[in-house]
Amino acid sequence: MANNRWHKYCRCEGLLKMAFLCIKKYTCLKKGSRKEIVDIILQSFTDDDIELFVQWLNKDYIKKWYGNLEDWINEVKNRSGEFNFINHFIVKYDEDKIGFCQYYDCYDAQEEWYKVINKNEVYSIDYLIGEEEFLNKGFGKEIVKQLIDKVKTKGGRQIIVQPEPENKASNRVLTANGFIYDDDRECYFLKT
Ligand SMILES: CC(C)(COP(=O)(O)OP(=O)(O)OC[C@H]1O[C@@H](n2cnc3c(N)ncnc32)[C@H](O)[C@@H]1OP(=O)(O)O)[C@@H](O)C(=O)NCCC(=O)NCCS
Repeated sequence: MANNRWHKYCRCEGLLKMAFLCIKKYTCLKKGSRKEIVDIILQSFTDDDIELFVQWLNKDYIKKWYGNLEDWINEVKNRSGEFNFINHFIVKYDEDKIGFCQYYDCYDAQEEWYKVINKNEVYSIDYLIGEEEFLNKGFGKEIVKQLIDKVKTKGGRQIIVQPEPENKASNRVLTANGFIYDDDRECYFLKT
């Protein structure tokens, strides 16, 4: 009997917890409340995330800004080898995987759009929201904020990013986080 009551209690508590999480997510998605959005977690990327990442990359609103998708896939697949200088993350909100982001030392990447001569000075970041229902609710801004914190912790002095000028949402998440456009280098920068 007591056992039966205990089971009922557990089931009831489980249902209440689920209802609470649903209400929490609903109010956050509706209002975009910053208090809730800070609950996102940047979790280290694992092989289990590759399939979802590929699905996200193939969405129209993402692939139009992401150049050669095979390069991105190759980088996450070889993140323990050739690309181990890139720090890849899956963005989690409650139990949902909602996006992807990364940061890296430009000294290690040596891309053609900048010249960096010292290690641990200049970093770059990338970010995307993979699930449409989480777009335009403030999550992008929070992801960039958390990436900035990670670069600061590493000791990086500057972050540079070069979104397409037409990518208004991407430009905005940067300026909202204090980035300034540098006409000479044709990219956004933030001194940390
Ligand atoms: C860029 C991206 C991560 C932004 O994330 P998001 O969560 O939708 O953005 P936020 O809700 O934090 O909004 C940031 C700002 O951009 C604005 N914004 C969002 N979408 C917009 C759009 N399509 N056009 C114009 N402004 C837009 C918001 O109104 C907000 O402005 P505010 O600060 O004045 O309120 C997301 O749009 C995305 O994943 N895009 C596809 C991938 C991509 O382009 N990645 C960047 C490559 S450089």
